[in-house]
Amino acid sequence: MSSDKRFKHLISIDELSKDDILYILKRAEEFEDIAKGKKVSKILDGKILANLFFEPSTRTRMSFETAMKRLGGDVINMTDTEISSVAKGETLADTVKVVSNYVDVIVLRHPLEGAAKFASENSSVPVINAGDGAGQHPTQTLLDLYTIQKESRLDGAKIALMGDLKYSRTVHSLIKALTLFKTKIFLVSPEILRLPEEFIEELEGDFESAELEDVIDQIDVLYVTRIQKERFPDEEEYRKVAGSYIITPQTLENAKDTLIIMHPLPRVNEIDTSVDATRFARYFEQSFYGVPIRMAILSELLL
Ligand code: CP
Repeated sequence: MSSDKRFKHLISIDELSKDDILYILKRAEEFEDIAKGKKVSKILDGKILANLFFEPSTRTRMSFETAMKRLGGDVINMTDTEISSVAKGETLADTVKVVSNYVDVIVLRHPLEGAAKFASENSSVPVINAGDGAGQHPTQTLLDLYTIQKESRLDGAKIALMGDLKYSRTVHSLIKALTLFKTKIFLVSPEILRLPEEFIEELEGDFESAELEDVIDQIDVLYVTRIQKERFPDEEEYRKVAGSYIITPQTLENAKDTLIIMHPLPRVNEIDTSVDATRFARYFEQSFYGVPIRMAILSELLL
């Protein structure tokens, strides 16, 4: 690994400057044809990635695996902790110390906030945070920014973040990055799922709480999130807000023609499937963009 890396691990989006982010987005564009299988590359031949997933995932794990394999690298997976030595009580620190002796990069998803940082302190190879509890999901943020850049505009965009702003790690990461791009942010959520005060205090950008119907005619991006049932300490509280907002074609009647709707996925019912066929939907394109973005991150860390 060369010593002039922009980052040694990728734990939090705060570690990246605007210049670093724009560099990754530019590199992702260069990887798109390889991500689509139209061109072949072997630049990561001989490199091995370990996916350590202590929580479920479809997109993050599989797009990392796709990115690595399409660049000629290989992947090993620990996705079922019941059949690994974690089931015998092995600690995260020991697991990471051992696995980092086998591979060139570790991708970690864990239910505890701070787990990725802790892992990086115990690893001899780069660690990428693939989501740590309600903390951060920086690679999702980079693919979200890439989607906005490609499908709308980043600088000066008006963006509504809607849904579970309290527990959604994708929102917690994204909102910090958006402050670098002079965006106007509308926060749309049920009262008990508002963005925690600690995030509002940290943010220097242009934010306000809003009702979706009051801003739908001015926003460029509607970023919808799932209510994170698994993070509620009390299921009764979850039931109070479950299904409290659902985007349908009627919700979008006054939207700008150029509005794009994003969602990190998986969705439950917060975007009705009838929206998928409208000109606004971009969430499936967004999930594809995870591949070139993760190619850009891996090539930065491994070459
Ligand atoms: N967006 C996202 O993180 O999806 P997965 O949980 O399927 O990885």
